[in-house]
Amino acid sequence: MGDVKTKGHHSAGKTLLNPEMIKADFPILSRRIGDRPLVYLDNAATTHKPESVISAMDEYYRKMNSNVHRGLHTLAEESTAAFEWTRKKIAAFIGGVETEEIIYTRNATEAINLVAYSWGRKNIRKGDRIVLTEMEHHANLVPWIALAKETGAELKYIPIDDNYRLDLNNIDKIISDNTRLVSITHMSNVLGTINPVEEIGQTAHSKGALFLVDGAQSVPHMPVDVKAIDADFYAFSAHKMLGPTGIGVLYGKESILNEMEPFIYGGEMISEVRYDFADWNDLPWKFEGGTPNIAGAVGFSPALDYLSDLGMDNIRNHEIELTAYTIAKLSDLKSIKIIGPHDTCMRGGAISFIDKDIHPHDLATFLDSRGIAVRAGHHCAQPLMKRLGLTATARASIYIYNTPEDIDKLVKTLREARRYFCNE
Ligand SMILES: Cc1ncc(COP(=O)(O)O)c(C=O)c1O
Repeated sequence: MGDVKTKGHHSAGKTLLNPEMIKADFPILSRRIGDRPLVYLDNAATTHKPESVISAMDEYYRKMNSNVHRGLHTLAEESTAAFEWTRKKIAAFIGGVETEEIIYTRNATEAINLVAYSWGRKNIRKGDRIVLTEMEHHANLVPWIALAKETGAELKYIPIDDNYRLDLNNIDKIISDNTRLVSITHMSNVLGTINPVEEIGQTAHSKGALFLVDGAQSVPHMPVDVKAIDADFYAFSAHKMLGPTGIGVLYGKESILNEMEPFIYGGEMISEVRYDFADWNDLPWKFEGGTPNIAGAVGFSPALDYLSDLGMDNIRNHEIELTAYTIAKLSDLKSIKIIGPHDTCMRGGAISFIDKDIHPHDLATFLDSRGIAVRAGHHCAQPLMKRLGLTATARASIYIYNTPEDIDKLVKTLREARRYFCNE
């Protein structure tokens, strides 16, 4: 499964993926929507699962199911080993960090909330500043709005420029001496923009602030090394990278996690409890109260293998090529405006667009009637939409199994939509 020798080919010194072969590993991609084959272009929302992920979870429930860290019987030992093995793989996948630094959460949203509760409520005071950007997903916005409301801290936003990139001109002022945290997305789920996280992290650290990166859209699509970025926290979700829903990751530097209070209190996260006393477990379990998503961790493992076998560099190259193709094809349509940078080196494959005459919801519904799944709406980034003067966009977002033919179908159907809605 996922062997790049068979699922990739060499071109101009690069290994490119063979998405047609990859598609065959994903049962859902042979589905039809009505009488049309499914064209799935909603990967920024969630990705599909290869056979290896589906069967690992099925096998787990058939043969191994047991709670972790508690039992002394064979099933419990096997479940615990599988659960912890995935943690090791995650640690290796994001640049070779310590396994103690990998906290299982439900998703990226919970990972960011964990920081806002456990670190934020202890360290943020009235008058402190938290720096975000104008392009954040609600997951990296609402926890900080709530924290600012509770503590009297101030929120400040790095603006975006006319090319849908961060405007770093005043970064030294925005990240002021009273800034305690800078929390930004690595890749925008709306604009596709990839942000210069190393540079922003350096400025944050030079002012004594911590640096959190929302990696929900980056870890699935490009090589990520959290140590090279020097992120203090890094959050992402398994379901956007071939894995199951209900499991995500918070990476945090050990020294910082050690100083933080737990997030969820109860079983598993303690070392000792008396009627009037409780002490916390070691990392990473201090943050993992209650029975975790064991099947999710088991399913996440083959997802990581699948991506590693293809190679994250190859995945990134495939997406650069297909994004360039998509942008070129969409640019041929006079009524369509792409909301995001055109330069593929600066962006990923979440491609937002609007048609000047057709509401994005109508477009998405029309595309669905032809078997094409895209997203339309505010993409959980209402402030960004407002900043752009929009209420919604349509968004096509690509992944390893998408082909130029998928994009041709999208563009052909967008032309049909013009005929249908605008009599062209
Ligand atoms: C940039 C970004 N951050 C955070 C999230 C939240 O991810 P989840 O819903 O898996 O917590 C998303 C989901 O779309 C996202 O695109």
